[in-house]
Amino acid sequence: MADDNAVSVSTLDFKNRFQSSGIVPEVIAALDPSVSFYAGFRAASDGHSELLVPGVSLTISEASLPIEFSVENLGNATGVTAQTRYLIYLLDADAPARDNPTARNLRHYLAGNYTLASNTSGVVASDILRTAQRLTVSPNRFFPFTPFTAPNPQPNTGVHRFIYALYTQPSRFDNAGFQSVGMDPNTANWNLSAWRTQLGLGPAIGATFFTIDTGANGGQGASSNGAVNGTSAAQTTSASLFTTGLTAAAALLGVMTIF
Ligand SMILES: *[C@@H]1O[C@H](CO)[C@@H](O)[C@H](O)[C@H]1NC(C)=O
Ligand SMILES: *[C@@H]1O[C@H](CO)[C@@H](O)[C@H](O)[C@H]1NC(C)=O
Ligand SMILES: *[C@@H]1O[C@H](CO)[C@@H](O)[C@H](O)[C@H]1NC(C)=O
Ligand SMILES: *[C@@H]1O[C@H](CO)[C@@H](O)[C@H](O)[C@H]1NC(C)=O
Ligand SMILES: *[C@@H]1O[C@H](CO)[C@@H](O)[C@H](O)[C@H]1NC(C)=O
Repeated sequence: MADDNAVSVSTLDFKNRFQSSGIVPEVIAALDPSVSFYAGFRAASDGHSELLVPGVSLTISEASLPIEFSVENLGNATGVTAQTRYLIYLLDADAPARDNPTARNLRHYLAGNYTLASNTSGVVASDILRTAQRLTVSPNRFFPFTPFTAPNPQPNTGVHRFIYALYTQPSRFDNAGFQSVGMDPNTANWNLSAWRTQLGLGPAIGATFFTIDTGANGGQGASSNGAVNGTSAAQTTSASLFTTGLTAAAALLGVMTIF
């Protein structure tokens, strides 16, 4: 069953929610999405397909498999043509625990060769949000560098933030995997800025995130700064958006490369 009330999220809302969650700049320096990027999941309550609203809190079972990726406003991304391929990752910014994320970032998925899904009458719409276009990989091009590992954070390790991001794929990877440029298969302590340089990537064109609340560990965890104290996953799922003052954190982190 498809969701009957999925609505579009503007690129500005995505940007704001990455800031109000503290992900920007604590985990990634900046995010300026040109497209609205969505993942679908199966809601535990009624089994319906739901769209990942940035910041929504999922159960471990709901996070176990993305059922669809889709995108809106793809024409706003630079250098995109009908032939462009895309890569998608999922990471846990708060592994193994929110207050001591010594494995940040832990990669749960990385695969390239995504394209807009099409059939004989054109581009295929999302099953969940009719104004979005579905992204798929054909099986003969599906060589995930990091096969999908279902999120399974340990109990009492706080609120984990899981980030999906979408990039345009440099054409050299249309015929070669990421190992061809020496990418490290280890999934822990994944350095995004070093990785972008290694693969020759531009900034993410879209990104979204969900949280899994494992309890305790100070909730938001000591790793977040005082400015995000009180920004719960529940609040970020609500329609009201508020950005918290992260100037102090930005100053502490200094100049960083763009995500
Ligand atoms: C770019 O995005 C804006 C909304 O932010 C939309 O109105 C416009 O149609 C988009 N342009 C293209 C080419 O998709
Ligand atoms: C192609 O996809 C569109 C939705 O995006 C659908 O309405 C149409 O029925 C599909 N056509 C075929 C031949 O599958
Ligand atoms: C894309 O698919 C081609 C096969 O058509 C394969 O050689 C290449 O490794 C794939 N690239 C990625 C990044 O998965
Ligand atoms: C990530 O890599 C960059 C070099 O691209 C480096 O400056 C930075 O210190 C690294 N970050 C971490 C946390 O190791
Ligand atoms: C942070 O949250 C804790 C627990 O909710 C609360 O006791 C404390 O007063 C908050 N600190 C600030 C600076 O808001």
